[in-house]
Amino acid sequence: MSSGDTMTFARFMELCLYDPEEGYYRRGARVFGPRGDFYTSPYTHPLFAQVLGDALAGYLSGLDADRPLDLIELGSGEGILGKGVLGRLENQHPGIFARVRYRGVEFGDAGLPERIHGVVFSNELFDALPVHRVRVSQSGLKEIFVRLGEPIAEVEGELSDPRIPEYMRLGFPRWREGCVYEANLRMVEILEDLDRRFQRGFVLTLDYGFEAAEYEAMDRREGTLLCYHRHRVHSDPYVNLGRQDLTSHVNFRVFRKTAARLGWTNEPLRSQRRFLMKWGLADRLLEEENRGILRAERVEDRLGIKALLAPGGISDTLKAQVQAVRLPTAGGSFGAGRI
Ligand SMILES: C[S@@+](CC[C@H](N)C(=O)[O-])C[C@H]1O[C@@H](n2cnc3c(N)ncnc32)[C@H](O)[C@@H]1O
Repeated sequence: MSSGDTMTFARFMELCLYDPEEGYYRRGARVFGPRGDFYTSPYTHPLFAQVLGDALAGYLSGLDADRPLDLIELGSGEGILGKGVLGRLENQHPGIFARVRYRGVEFGDAGLPERIHGVVFSNELFDALPVHRVRVSQSGLKEIFVRLGEPIAEVEGELSDPRIPEYMRLGFPRWREGCVYEANLRMVEILEDLDRRFQRGFVLTLDYGFEAAEYEAMDRREGTLLCYHRHRVHSDPYVNLGRQDLTSHVNFRVFRKTAARLGWTNEPLRSQRRFLMKWGLADRLLEEENRGILRAERVEDRLGIKALLAPGGISDTLKAQVQAVRLPTAGGSFGAGRI
């Protein structure tokens, strides 16, 4: 790359996050937790992985009893969530645990099996994918490109990919002139790739994201792109190159419509908080308190729990989407039971 080179924002974001040597997620530097740049839910409190483990057991128990079960985590990061989930399955759902083949898949791994019978889950994968940025102008849709140099500059031009107009129509039924929107084509590619591999099962996705109405109410004219550096949030992707996280909200309308096009069945989109409550977070909390495990006086414990439970906290902005792939549905539910 040299000064004057021009590229799509998606390519720029991919280099910043996933360049094998200099990319934020691939340099081997600490990313998560107090000494990193941000927290994800598994780092807030162990209860998160435990409740997710119960939910996954519920969905896995609805699948063919006589076959091994794939449990695939996309974007497994440091592996803390997978470890917590497997621990919960082993302790509380040993029958399921004995049949499960877990795989954590990271960027660049060729780790996805050819055939999937089971559950594919992810936490904050899709918001970490490279996105194209599109401005709605008087003369139509214009893509934002990045020109390297001192300083790095944005230039607008014609759309770089024929799939972008369709993505925009699908994702933003009432877009606003002058505003910037993200097109996450990689997200669509991942769902299509999963579809080719799935025999039967579920996709469980936890991520920051919006539905159409939230994009319409949004007051950010420059879109949902955010940068995280040492627990500070800002919106300048052209500083701290390879040293800060870049994310954009998942467009759950596109996510759900793509799934429907593939013949999958969408459960209602929920906030992560409601999803965790549905799968027993409140009961688990009480249990821990009664057993004296939850040290309520400890600040970290209280803050962690608050992050998972507080209305208006991260657990409300985060969403949970479950999709059934090649499964008969019974009265709108997939037969996944609380077990
Ligand atoms: C925000 S982190 C979340 C990590 C972890 N799930 C958690 O909750 O802490 C996003 C992760 O997705 C990974 N990732 C990005 N693109 C990927 C891809 N195409 N396939 C698998 N993992 C990917 C990144 O390397 C990174 O570890």
